[in-house]
Amino acid sequence: MYVAANNRYDVLPIRRVGHTGLQLPIISLGLWRHYGSSDPYADRKQIILSAFDHGIFSFDNANNYGKPDIGSAEQLFGQVYQDSLKPYRDELVVTTKVGFETGVGPYAQFNSRKNILQAIDRSLTNLQMDYVDIYYSHRPDPNTDFEETALALAQIVQAGKALYIGISNYDAEQTKKMVKLLQDLQVPFVVNQSSYNMLQTRVKDDGLLATLKDFNRGFVAYGPLCEGLLTDRYLNGIPADFPIHWSNADIFANGKEAVVVQLNQLNKIAQNRQQTLAQMALAWILRDQTVSSVIIGTTSEKNLLANIEAGQNLEFSDDEVSAINAILKQ
Ligand SMILES: NC(=O)c1ccc[n+]([C@@H]2O[C@H](COP(=O)([O-])OP(=O)(O)OC[C@H]3O[C@@H](n4cnc5c(N)ncnc54)[C@H](OP(=O)(O)O)[C@@H]3O)[C@@H](O)[C@H]2O)c1
Repeated sequence: MYVAANNRYDVLPIRRVGHTGLQLPIISLGLWRHYGSSDPYADRKQIILSAFDHGIFSFDNANNYGKPDIGSAEQLFGQVYQDSLKPYRDELVVTTKVGFETGVGPYAQFNSRKNILQAIDRSLTNLQMDYVDIYYSHRPDPNTDFEETALALAQIVQAGKALYIGISNYDAEQTKKMVKLLQDLQVPFVVNQSSYNMLQTRVKDDGLLATLKDFNRGFVAYGPLCEGLLTDRYLNGIPADFPIHWSNADIFANGKEAVVVQLNQLNKIAQNRQQTLAQMALAWILRDQTVSSVIIGTTSEKNLLANIEAGQNLEFSDDEVSAINAILKQ
């Protein structure tokens, strides 16, 4: 029988999300890639439990995650929950999302009242839970009024199926609009989850981080390692078929070789800080206290534990900040 490590809260810093009562470990674990029905259950379970033992109590899912069976990432987490984590339910922050395609037809994607209210029940069944901690609208819907989406999310909270609401991939203006609607409905909105890493700073540039700070709410960064680019893996080159996520596609605007040059320059600074490039990349975006947590994806316990060590050095000297900014501006 699994028994969680006694010292699990001694490892990783925890941040309060804006002025809300929600608190998150600075690193969360995501189940987007390689946590599906074709992936080895015992290996994935080991990573999830190791994460929990080392202070990661926040696990990020979505109703479209898992291959080849859509939803199988939620099912995998639900199985780990039943097998091992159920006694720890009150400690967990389990999140899932609705909005990307889960099937065919108009009610298998986006943010209509019908899709949202159907999807939460399917997610809870998959997760084998009565409620999730944060339920996200996974992306804005160009064809559904935000009012309809906000009302459906409010109903989910009122029904006790989610404790908090988040939005994902909404830009600054869309966030302002949605947060005001949710606040009018007294919905506990907590975070926007969007792509953010050293190479991809759209959320800073478009004012999203400042907007969330103004609302006293938080930001959760997905893809903080730019899908593995911000590690020591690609210092000698990026393969032509590298599977870049749509949110990061523009980082190759000047060609992959230019990114490799930047990665090597950043890696030197990381080494001088006695960090790996991955650890420095996580620490870099956590400098802003509006960033409540960064969600990493990993199938390797070694990488998981190395990434967690990033929490031991989150400080940057003025010289490091200047040098890094100069590299990132190239
Ligand atoms: N809301 C959204 O629209 C959205 C979109 C994308 C992602 N997300 C969330 O964010 C999570 C993370 O996204 P992501 O997978 O793109 O994150 P990521 O952590 O930036 O990249 C993951 C990749 O980095 C590699 N990696 C991790 N640590 C490493 C290390 N120390 N050294 C070398 N390689 C390392 C992993 O390979 P290994 O497996 O070999 O470690 C994997 O290939 C997802 O699971 C999901 O929950 C949300």
